[in-house]
Amino acid sequence: MSAFGDVPLPDDIVGSRYKLERPLGSGGRGLVFLARDLVTESPVALKLVRERRYGHRLLFEAQLLARLAPLEAVCRLLDCGEHSDGRPFIVIEWIDGKPIDRMALTINDILTISMIICRALAKLHILGYLHRDVKPTNVVVPIEGSEARVAGAKLIDFDLARPMFEMCSDGQSKPLFGRTGGTADYMAPEQLTGRHQTAATDIYGLGATMFSLLYQRPIQPTGNVEQAHFADVGLPTPFIGAYVVRRLTEEIVVPVDESVPRELQFLLSRMLRIDSRERPSSIADVQEVLGGLANSPG
Ligand SMILES: Nc1ncnc2c1ncn2[C@@H]1O[C@H](COP(=O)(O)OP(=O)(O)O)[C@@H](O)[C@H]1O
Ligand SMILES: [Mg+2]
Repeated sequence: MSAFGDVPLPDDIVGSRYKLERPLGSGGRGLVFLARDLVTESPVALKLVRERRYGHRLLFEAQLLARLAPLEAVCRLLDCGEHSDGRPFIVIEWIDGKPIDRMALTINDILTISMIICRALAKLHILGYLHRDVKPTNVVVPIEGSEARVAGAKLIDFDLARPMFEMCSDGQSKPLFGRTGGTADYMAPEQLTGRHQTAATDIYGLGATMFSLLYQRPIQPTGNVEQAHFADVGLPTPFIGAYVVRRLTEEIVVPVDESVPRELQFLLSRMLRIDSRERPSSIADVQEVLGGLANSPG
């Protein structure tokens, strides 16, 4: 066993160059570590797959990060390689901070962070991809001293990203369908059910993220943990039924709250519509409203 609890690593130096220092997080397929680059002596974030069979997903993530550069809103890809046991890894810019689910944020902070996520999503959509996993734990904000520098927020984790259209063998392009893992609280109805996913699917994820930051709770009370997180294991459970049926039939009610500008409440209710055609039609539309709100006094 390595120094990282139950994470099996044959040694703690990866790719003959990166010394693992501590785990930063882990998901179904990946493990993320703070590591030290032994050549430059700088801290980096290193993402490794749990099993070799997930390697192609990580390489896809690396390719997307490379294509998104030099966008401030995403982490820079620094290197990729293969661990001695054959598992691929990628090395990315490390953000000395924390995910936004663990932060107290003002409305202005939330607007600033949302506009940064929009910049990342706008570029991703122009390139022809969807992120499909926009949620608070996938947005990290640098902390300097005790101060959060929200202007430096980054959208991370392109593990579930996919092309909006796939080329079929008959030369036709086919839109994106299919169930995914992920966290149900932030997934659009069409993603929960594996139906046609578009830019509006990411707009929903962003809306659910903004909602949970503004109101400090998920978009819809879920009753129990299994219902909320069934999608984390990616398989149907007997709990799915009631939760998904509600998400497919009951529009999300954005609370009327005097501290939240009315235009923002209205934007959120549009971003969270069940029918994706009733949501803002592109990230540019969301950006326009957010820009107006950020510039309005008070
Ligand atoms: N570049 C980074 N800098 C700092 N922390 C990071 C970075 N990348 C990931 N993390 C941390 O690791 C966690 C998991 O990373 P993520 O890429 O979301 O992997 P997963 O696919 O396992 O969810 C994140 O929620 C965040 O806390
Ligand atoms: Mg993640």
